[in-house]
Amino acid sequence: MKIFKISFLACFFAASAFSASQVYYIEAHGDFGKELAEMATKQANERNEKIQVFIDEDPRRYKDNRILKFGVDRKGRYSVSLGKELYEKQCQSCHGENAEKRPYGSVALKDMNAKDIEDSIISYRSDTSFGGDGKLIMQNQAKITTNNDLGAILAYLKGKDALADQDDQANKPVSTEKKQGSYLR
Ligand code: HEC
Repeated sequence: MKIFKISFLACFFAASAFSASQVYYIEAHGDFGKELAEMATKQANERNEKIQVFIDEDPRRYKDNRILKFGVDRKGRYSVSLGKELYEKQCQSCHGENAEKRPYGSVALKDMNAKDIEDSIISYRSDTSFGGDGKLIMQNQAKITTNNDLGAILAYLKGKDALADQDDQANKPVSTEKKQGSYLR
């Protein structure tokens, strides 16, 4: 399921006339942001100035308004670009650039689905007996990773709707055709 992005965030910077080392980031949302970015680009072209426009699908910091904040918010609109940054900073050194490494023989993150990674992180946080020989290392990592950070990391690793899609599938009734012709859930 694709969610239409009605709001997006546009940041851009323009070199100042006074100080070339100063960079301005402007955050603007939705249609206004789009117009502003177009205007700024046009201006920059006319003046022969360098400009860079960054568009993010979501506000970088998703605000989790749930009362019970258990795990990642299924309806959360987490930022993939933030997730990439967080992964590179907080996970990549041990888990690899392509989530392919297997520290202490653990399963590579690329071979786990979003729900399994989430379950695993929650367990490392709350259950000291969970995990293998390297569990102490991962317990610390899990504790400093908030649900919001994890939501963004999963959006980056597994796609924005990975958790919601998986829940959908789990809730779907499954009919299995039996030889006798009976259908069981
Ligand atoms: C300092 C190294 C280090 C960092 C940084 C790190 N991990 Fe780990 N991770 C490990 C080790 C070691 C294990 C194996 C732990 C064990 O033996 O239970 C592991 C295991 C895991 C597992 C369980 C895999 C399995 O086999 O079930 C998940 C999920 C995981 N890490 C996610 C993450 C995420 C997400 C991040 C970034 C927020 C992260 N890790 C950061 C070292 C690290």
